[in-house]
Formats: sequence, C-alpha cells, structure tokens
Amino acid sequence: MEQALSFIGSIPWWIWILLFLLVVALRDIFFQRAHTISHNYPIVGHLRYWLESIGPEMRQYFVANNREELPFNRIERGWIYASAKKENNYEGFGTERDIYDHQYIFVKNQMMAFKIGEGHPNYRDKTFIPCAKVMGQYNQRRKPYRPASVINVSAMSFGSLSARAIEALNRGVQKAGAYHNTGEGGLSPYHQQGGNVIFHFGTGYFGVRTPDGNFSMEKLKKLVEQNNCIKAVEIKLSQGAKPGKGGVLPGAKITPELAEIRGVEVGKDVISPATHKAFDTVSELLLLIEEIAEETGLPVGIKAAIGKLDQWEELADLMVKTGKGPDFITVDGGEGGTGAAPPSFADHVSLPWVYGFSSLYKVFLKRKITDRIVFIGSGKLGFPAKAAMAFAMGVDCINVAREAMMSIGCIQAQVCHTNRCPSGVATQNKWLQNGIDIPIKSERLAQYFKTFRKELLEITHASGYEHPCQFTMEDIQVNIDDDQLNRNLASLYGYTKDKVPFEDAQKLFECQYLGNKNLEKTMK
Ligand SMILES: Cc1cc2nc3c(=O)[nH]c(=O)nc-3n(C[C@H](O)[C@H](O)[C@H](O)COP(=O)(O)O)c2cc1C
Repeated sequence: MEQALSFIGSIPWWIWILLFLLVVALRDIFFQRAHTISHNYPIVGHLRYWLESIGPEMRQYFVANNREELPFNRIERGWIYASAKKENNYEGFGTERDIYDHQYIFVKNQMMAFKIGEGHPNYRDKTFIPCAKVMGQYNQRRKPYRPASVINVSAMSFGSLSARAIEALNRGVQKAGAYHNTGEGGLSPYHQQGGNVIFHFGTGYFGVRTPDGNFSMEKLKKLVEQNNCIKAVEIKLSQGAKPGKGGVLPGAKITPELAEIRGVEVGKDVISPATHKAFDTVSELLLLIEEIAEETGLPVGIKAAIGKLDQWEELADLMVKTGKGPDFITVDGGEGGTGAAPPSFADHVSLPWVYGFSSLYKVFLKRKITDRIVFIGSGKLGFPAKAAMAFAMGVDCINVAREAMMSIGCIQAQVCHTNRCPSGVATQNKWLQNGIDIPIKSERLAQYFKTFRKELLEITHASGYEHPCQFTMEDIQVNIDDDQLNRNLASLYGYTKDKVPFEDAQKLFECQYLGNKNLEKTMK
C-alpha cells in the first residue's frame, strides 16, 4: 500500500494533467454521441461550448453598445438602477439616442409650463400622482379603490420570484403608496407586508382552487375577508409573453410552503391549463366578474394580451346592454416578460403594446364606455416618457414587472426559467436569495417609483398639464417611415382619447377611496 502511495506521489503534476486530458479525449471520441463537435475535435471542442455559455455576459459587459441590448438596453437599465439608488440619473452632453429612429417618441412641450402654487399637493410632495379614475365607482362596488400611485408592481407570483424578492416589493409599494399584484401563485405571507394588493388568478386558480382544480368562490371570499390589504381582484385571461399557453410547475419545486399557499399537493406536478374552467363564453366571464364583485365587494378586472378583437367587441356590446362589466382592464403588450415561455410564443403571439392597446381602446371608445373602465398598461412602460405616451393613448395606470425586478437588483441575466437567477430575485434557491437585503431593496423599489412619478410629473408640467391623464393624442409624435416623417398619435392610431374627468390634484388627495392612507403622513 505504502509503495503504491509513494509511486502515485512521485508522478509529476503535468502527467496528471495529461492523464486527465486523455480521459476527456477518450470520453469525447468513444463514450458520448450527443456532441458532434467534441467527437470530431476532442478536448478543444469543449472550448466552443464554454465560450458560447459565457457569450451573453461577454457581449453585455464588453461588446454591446448602450442602446442595442434587449429587452432593456444599458441606458434603460442604468436609469432604473440610478433612480432606485437615488443616484445622479442625469446624462451629460445631450441625448445618446438616435432621435430620428423609427418609432421614436416625442412629447410636445408647452410654451409656458404648468405652474405649481404653494397650496398644491405637488408643492408638498413632488411624487404624488394618484390614478385619476376610481376602480369600481361606475359599477357601484361596495369597496371602490383609487390607486394612490400611477405606477404599480405587475403580476409576478411567489414561485416565479423568491420569497425575499416578493417581500422587498411589497414593503417597497407600501413606502411608495403603490399596489402589488400577486401574480398567479396565490397570496403568500410575503405579499402581506403592508402594501395594497391586487389579488390575481389565472387558469390554475392558485390560492382559490377546489381540490379538482376549479375556481372556489368560497376560498376567494374567505381570503378577501381575512386580508384587508386586498383592494381588487384581477382575472387573468392571458399575458403578452404567452397568450393562450398554460404551464407546468414541476413537482420538485412544490415545497410544503408553496403547496399550502397555492392549494396544491406537495411534490406533484401542477398543471395550469391553457383555458379557464370557470367560464367558456364572454357572457359567462361577465357573470363571474359580477359574482366576484358581489361576493367580495371589491372592484374586479381582467388582464389580457390583445390579438383578435371579435370577443372584445362582444364584451363591449354586453357591457352596453347590461350596464355591467369589468372595473378595470389590464392590457399587456406582446413584449411583456415572463418567468418562462417558449420563444415561439414570447416572440410572435399577440400584438405589441401600442398596437394592442390602441385597437382595444377603440372598441370601448366606439361605444362611449371608456369612462366605466380603469385602463392599465404593461409592457416596458416603466419609463416616464413612454408612460406619457401611454397616458396620451388612454391608460390610467402603469404596471411594471421587469423594471421593478431591476430596481431590486435583477441584472437581466435572463435565466428566470432555470432557478439559477444570480441576483436571487427569480429563484427558489435559498443561498441565492439570501443575498437580497429586504430593507435596502424595498427602499430601492420605492425610490424608483418616486423618481418615475417625479419625472413623469415634470414632463406633464412641461407640457402644460397638472396630471398625466390630461395628455391627448396630439401631444405625442412618433417617427414613422413614410414621407410625412413623423405623426401624432391621433393620426397614427386613428382615434382621439376620451377626456378623463379631472378637476385638480387636491380633489384626488381628498378622495375617500384613495389607497395607501399612510401617504397622508408624507404630505404634511
Ligand atoms: C418573472 C415574471 C413572472 C410573471 N408572472 C406573471 C403572472 O403570474 N401572471 C401574469 O399575468 N403576468 C405575469 N408576468 C407578466 C408581467 O406581469 C407583465 O405583464 C409583463 O412582464 C410586462 O411588464 P414589464 O414589461 O414591465 O415586465 C410575469 C413577468 C415576469 C417577468
């Protein structure tokens, strides 16, 4: 034995390396058939796979210019990071963007900006922009709700995001006076940290499901009764990244905690079907909306990505006929994000936000019922100038998902679907998520929202208005590729937005339905 050990010890280190390489070469040539390159070029072939795996990072850090990455380029990410950290988010020397680029947007400033008097709510708080409409007011729900912030956290479930990320977002929205949409995974304890919540469910009915996977009104009613933080309910019909596509949550990911929150069995695969069990037709959907509103007293809305319009026309006709309907509609763009989706869906199914929203808004405009609906937009709208465009087109609020993730540390590694998110935001790995410092990250989300609102308000004032709801389609121009070079939104999308009833910001501040009452403290 001793002799063998001393023989092994006498072998020089470089022989060990050569032996290792020999084993790799033998494996490449004789024992694996999966990779042709490694078979044909033993050992060196591995270099190609390694370089390919680190390619995205290399391009992101060293090669890509500030404007070319997707979904969010470096300028956009840098603005969110700096805003969230309350660092200097200005740029020097002028714009770095190509302002003659296709689809580039311009906000038309007024000759003299809107003046803020001493008693004005924005004199006391430069970030105060509540929603100009009240959810559930038209339909006389028992508990109407006016979101106290025009920017809010979009649907992202506990499961797709880590517990610590959800908690940081919830504490952040509380500080910023915004709301937090639960996403499809049910209401977790991490959503109950003080922020206003919109409870969202999809075809899996997680958190409000019967043992056979159907919708349970009893459970929803109980959930709402026990959780005062829930201010509205959203039924998901589809999302921009994967409309009409269900999903599977593998049993390995179903921990006892997740199972408890979602109302499913530990360790068993959970299927979210592509369609709802609770309704089959548009009139049945309308019925469900009314039943939920009646049982819970809350405003009820729907979320969808837009493609064909015939069923929306049917919904709008029914709304006219019955005088009932959703209190809010969230329109997600085809550019929307997801925890995981097949590229064929994420890249091609459903319209981009500007086309989807403009066609949908016209359906309700034609029937003169836009005042009955709070329109919410999502799809890379978490930037003040883009939000100004969305307001001009008819939205009343913005939801942000990936922008909110970035404010709490997401680095756009684009590995949400692998459980290996390096920033701990979109993973269930305990080690990775332990890096999230909840007090610091919640402050960052809040600061991003406040900076967004401050800059949106400044753009609004520069355009001569008091509130972004006053933007009209004529206020924004877009570069197009025909010989007129650029056109305003009204002529581009073929409609003029309905006027949103708005008196002044003070009236919004005094509104009895205004969410997040702790705002009053910050306004003193
Ligand atoms: C990690 C992640 C999880 C998401 N989960 C849901 C979900 O449960 N339900 C849903 O309707 N949308 C979900 N979305 C879509 C977002 O709510 C949002 O509509 C979309 O990303 C567009 O917003 P953004 O461009 O600000 O990211 C998710 C998005 C991400 C990035």
